[in-house]
Amino acid sequence: MSNYHIKNLEEYYQVYRKSVRDPESFWAEIAEEHFVWRKPWDKVLEWNFSTPEVKWFEGAQLNITENCIDRHLATKGDKTAIIFEPNDPSEKAQHISYKELHEKVCAFANVLKDQGVKKGDRVCIYLPMIPELATSILACARIGAIHTVVFAGFSATALSTRINDCECNMVITSDGSFRGTKTIDLKGIVDEALESTPTIKSVLVVKRTKADINMKSVRDHWLQPLLDKADKDCPIEIMDAEDPLFILYTSGSTGKPKGMMHTTAGYMVYTAYTFKNVFQYKNGDVYWCTADIGWVTGHSYIVYGPLANGATTILFEGVPNHPDFGRFWDIIEKHKVNQFYTAPTAIRALAKEKLDYVENHDLSSLKVLGTVGEPINEEAWHWYNDNVGKKMSPIVDTWWQTETGGIMISPIPYTTPTIPTYATLPLPGVQPALMDEHGKEIKGNQVDGRLCIKFPWPGMARTIWGDHKRYKETYFSTYENKYFTGDGALRDTVGYYRITGRVDDVIIVSGHNLGTAPIEDAINEHPAVAESAIVGFPHDVKGNALYGYVILKETGESRLHENLRKEINQIITEHIGPIAKLDKIQFTVGLPKTRSGKIMRRILRKIAHKETDNLGDISTLLNPEVVQEIIDNAL
Ligand code: PRX
Repeated sequence: MSNYHIKNLEEYYQVYRKSVRDPESFWAEIAEEHFVWRKPWDKVLEWNFSTPEVKWFEGAQLNITENCIDRHLATKGDKTAIIFEPNDPSEKAQHISYKELHEKVCAFANVLKDQGVKKGDRVCIYLPMIPELATSILACARIGAIHTVVFAGFSATALSTRINDCECNMVITSDGSFRGTKTIDLKGIVDEALESTPTIKSVLVVKRTKADINMKSVRDHWLQPLLDKADKDCPIEIMDAEDPLFILYTSGSTGKPKGMMHTTAGYMVYTAYTFKNVFQYKNGDVYWCTADIGWVTGHSYIVYGPLANGATTILFEGVPNHPDFGRFWDIIEKHKVNQFYTAPTAIRALAKEKLDYVENHDLSSLKVLGTVGEPINEEAWHWYNDNVGKKMSPIVDTWWQTETGGIMISPIPYTTPTIPTYATLPLPGVQPALMDEHGKEIKGNQVDGRLCIKFPWPGMARTIWGDHKRYKETYFSTYENKYFTGDGALRDTVGYYRITGRVDDVIIVSGHNLGTAPIEDAINEHPAVAESAIVGFPHDVKGNALYGYVILKETGESRLHENLRKEINQIITEHIGPIAKLDKIQFTVGLPKTRSGKIMRRILRKIAHKETDNLGDISTLLNPEVVQEIIDNAL
């Protein structure tokens, strides 16, 4: 039996029990056998959830890129590490071997050094899904710079907020990006963002679209000429286990985005371990995760987890509907993909199209199908299982978060019997707990509650960059001595978990976490708006869509409302990005409020869900009369 690679259910239970009985030796054995260390650790785990402080493998030294690249060179130098599949299917796919990846990352790392980037500096990466996105991340990790990738669909304001929050001194971007038939002027967005980012000293620009862009002298440099001149070898920076590896921003229910900080050793061990087991990756397999590297899924399961296992990972630049709705299936057939990992929202969108798109492709290479990011509904699960997997490929419904670094609850394919909509069992090392509203743990099965984790795991984020107090308040203060996920879950009779959704004001739209507060703040910037409140409502493709209730300063003529709706969505696009646009905007004279002035979102949610029969007691509201008015005008 190996702790590292679980092959059947009996082994799973044995390994799981061991991981709970003796977590330290469990993780130490995995870390020792499967990774390269420059110095062993003094202590496997140090933790205290009340401070909170968590340290894994303290005293150890390593470099994650040595583990993801260098150590594979002797045996897998010519093996493909990354397959780059461009947006345009007529452009040739690139196969980057481990040897080539090593050269590219080293050259990039040397360019960063030449530009003055040092260990501990923050580098912002704002790139489309092109190979340089992976190589820039790895180049930062090689020299100990902390990368912070901002999804290239975020607006200039969102970009500058993130750059300023962690005080980056460099941005890596491109002239533009291709998405389906569209070309996006990324450099223009960066230029606008950098008008208010005093810490940025230089910008490296990848040439991708060949758009005619503005290059600011001294600050901006084309990347390629610098790479051409750079040495193709670069020694690793020796990192301490708990040195920061990256910061990745995620929305909170209130306030500005949270810069989740992940550290080196624990994250590496955890993503590699979970990748191996959840996808049952075997040498020679081709693995594809459709996420963008701008999200945690891409960090952990396009770049670090697969490369730490010496896998072949696909990096896809495009979108599922270009040139047609068969693109995913086309790529699976073309590259003979064995493990395919995508989001329920993509499955729902593709399930709406003609089945011919799927059936015209040979998908027989598939062995494992994965989903992530939001609950998968039964219909989508069955469509995926029947039409893509032909009932032969187990579906792994993987539950986890930006904060957890890696997959926490998931079936192990060919091991854990699956049930649609259930993420099933915790992975080894993960100790979930369900809590009631009084802060007590709910034991036993066939129960539901709020999902917490009661013991540290190596991949967990260690803090919110620059705001440890908020980290403590958000995750460790709701329940004593436990990490609170913000999700609700139920545990069935056999101990399987089903995630029921967020229990806070975060709304998951197309698999993207959106906090309501920043969207409301953006709307309130419109000169005609007095106040607003956002809730989610069910959407057949996006899972949830956004419903905005907006109070105008002056009740204008309703013929002007259509324009106002457009302007409000425009403001949201400028402040956050198009992913946060509202599907419905209802203008109203008031919002239901408690006597202490808090908006009663529960009522607004019910109205948006068209569930107005049972609104509960509204007599204690400050303004109960407004409720009927909102119901009467609901969209
Ligand atoms: O609500 C859960 C939902 O996505 C949230 C985490 O979002 P984010 O940090 O953006 O990371 C997404 C990719 C890991 C969770 O709190 N979520 C994620 N996976 C699932 C899920 N909800 C149900 N089922 C899942 N498999």
